[in-house]
Amino acid sequence: MIKIAIIVGSTRPGRKAPAVAQWVYDAASQRTDATFEIVDLLAFDLPLLDEPMPPAMGKYTKPHTIAWSEKIAAFDGYVFVTPEYNHGPSGALKNAIDFLYREWNNKAAGFVAYGSAGGTRAVEQLRLIMAELQIADVRGQVALSLYTDFENFATFKPAPVHAKPLAAMLDQVVAWATALKPLRG
Ligand SMILES: Cc1cc2nc3c(=O)[nH]c(=O)nc-3n(C[C@H](O)[C@H](O)[C@H](O)COP(=O)(O)O)c2cc1C
Repeated sequence: MIKIAIIVGSTRPGRKAPAVAQWVYDAASQRTDATFEIVDLLAFDLPLLDEPMPPAMGKYTKPHTIAWSEKIAAFDGYVFVTPEYNHGPSGALKNAIDFLYREWNNKAAGFVAYGSAGGTRAVEQLRLIMAELQIADVRGQVALSLYTDFENFATFKPAPVHAKPLAAMLDQVVAWATALKPLRG
């Protein structure tokens, strides 16, 4: 069975990301073609990248890197739940991505983003990063608005219109994660 991680891409106090990730999980877990798990960056308590060797060499020295590596390696694909900070993804998410390399290779990914413009600029930056990690990023994405999907800019109340793009993105992530299986050996 294909395994997909739903990565909570914000770590700040009062973050919106866990509520968004839970919404993704609630929809995804109805599916029978893959299993899904929420992976919260906060739980890994990663410092700023502190490994002496480049991650592509896989020579990790710190317990937090090894724990993060083991978690990420266990999945066939990812759904990145990301805020938009200064027109990019959060620093916490970029830092967590940078910690690893081979664990990401030949996997698939989709995005659920939120912001004043649906987090689309953060996702465009993430798509550039995916190429270097050899992650196949699918076309489908969910663009949530701070104005219309969060009551008083705070409480997550997604408009029903997002259900279809969410399902389409999950379809694509599962399909590509499955198709890339032979490359993962
Ligand atoms: C450092 C910072 C920069 C931000 N920059 C943007 C931005 O460029 N575009 C945008 O739509 N929202 C921006 N915001 C607003 C965030 O989208 C909003 O605070 C959101 O709740 C952040 O996600 P989080 O609560 O999960 O951390 C920014 C917020 C912060 C904290």
